[in-house]
Amino acid sequence: MYLSASRKPPSRKGSMHDVPNDLMKHIHELERMFTVDTPKLHEIVSIFQEELVKGLSVAGGTIPMNPTWVIGYPTGDETGTYLALDMGGTNLRVCEVELPEEKGQYDIYQSKYRLPEEIKSGTGDQLFDYIAECVKQFLIANHECQDIKDLKELHLGFTFSYPCEQNAIDHGILQRWTKGFDIEGVEGHDVVPMFEAALERKGVPIKITALVNDTTGTLIASAYTDNTTRIGCIFGTGCNAAYMETIGCIPKLAHMNLDPNLEIAINCEWGAFDNEHRVLPRTVYDKHIDEHSPRPGQQTFEKMVAGLYLGEIFRLALVDLHSNPDVKIFEKQDTSALQIEYSLDSSFLAEVESDPWENLMETHALFEKKLKIETTEPERKLIRRLAELIGTRAARLSACGVAAICKMKNIESCHVGADGSVFNLYPNFQERGAKALREIFGWGKTVRKDPIQIVPSEDGSGVGAALIAALTMKRIRKGIHAGVNVKRKNSLIPPTP
Ligand code: BGC
Repeated sequence: MYLSASRKPPSRKGSMHDVPNDLMKHIHELERMFTVDTPKLHEIVSIFQEELVKGLSVAGGTIPMNPTWVIGYPTGDETGTYLALDMGGTNLRVCEVELPEEKGQYDIYQSKYRLPEEIKSGTGDQLFDYIAECVKQFLIANHECQDIKDLKELHLGFTFSYPCEQNAIDHGILQRWTKGFDIEGVEGHDVVPMFEAALERKGVPIKITALVNDTTGTLIASAYTDNTTRIGCIFGTGCNAAYMETIGCIPKLAHMNLDPNLEIAINCEWGAFDNEHRVLPRTVYDKHIDEHSPRPGQQTFEKMVAGLYLGEIFRLALVDLHSNPDVKIFEKQDTSALQIEYSLDSSFLAEVESDPWENLMETHALFEKKLKIETTEPERKLIRRLAELIGTRAARLSACGVAAICKMKNIESCHVGADGSVFNLYPNFQERGAKALREIFGWGKTVRKDPIQIVPSEDGSGVGAALIAALTMKRIRKGIHAGVNVKRKNSLIPPTP
């Protein structure tokens, strides 16, 4: 039979008819715990919206809503060569980005470095020395014919994807580590001089022009090539969003007497949503993850939706079912590998969800290889359902954040640029998020194209950071100094003659 290429591939039917009744009972219990139905989506969006507004107020709230001092969108006319350094949750990436004369174009050269596990719980000096060394190695490799000392005119956009309170674009006090990081002596300090001191120790004369969050980078990079972009999101190891706000709608900046019509990017840090536990349907597994994390009580929303946690939620649920005498799973099997915390990451869940076979034979092989557990077919059906429930909940809750920003800003149609391993690699994440948005906004069958769409973004942490460095320098050259740190040692503002 001829199948049109645009049709969806046939999917597994997923019949549960051979699952014994007692196991079905537990599957229904998991469904009850993890399902976020339409009325609950509405309830979450409404409180989310309230909390976003609170974050902009003078009194503040739990969602930080950090002004980033990225002022306005790029025009597409930005030019020059910039460095971008991306310190995400898993890797470190150094890039050189060229913005040519052609509108909306870019070239990028990059090297990736592994962020060693021990660095994530070491000291600030160890962290910054390590990343400064990576920058140095990159410059040596990419500027073979030049002395490193002659590169001081290169401007660097540093993508540091953790919540920072910024009183200028080249300033950022780390509010708290997230994504499992626990590095001593950095929280409560401005990371810009700490990193610049490390660069100096390594003899690298580069200036930090902009401290950038990955979501802000995503917003700007996406807007550079698609002017319908209004929000930038990361659905990866962590989860967060940034959008443009007018200064007049940010009461906590009123004392600065800036032009109320200026637009400034807000890094929401929405991972902190519902730290008060008002609305999110937390399961015992979510509570366990929080209590055993380096920062209990923080990042409640993120701990339910981000890649770092999805595999752990899944593992905890399986361990719990195995230890329940009423649920007969993995009987007489050695489950020691399954007992290891964080031993399963979200790619494991993604593989379970991608298994195309009716008898889930790929899941069988996966459990055997990774966990040394022989599964029965009914067990695999439970495993698959559990993975679907966790993945679906993550996508639906993530959509609530997007909807809350759109409702707060009265955005009726736009593109949301999105990046991150969960968005790009987790099966059905995008479709499930889109479906949740349709339920929230009530777009019926007559609406042929979703007005608000979450679409893959340009490289925010590379190109976005470079663009932000370019925008900053453009403003400084025009003599506009609002949002630039005048007081620091390597201030970007040239001294007045
Ligand atoms: C951080 C955010 C970041 C997000 C995605 C969160 O843990 O707090 O700053 O944008 O992860 O990387």
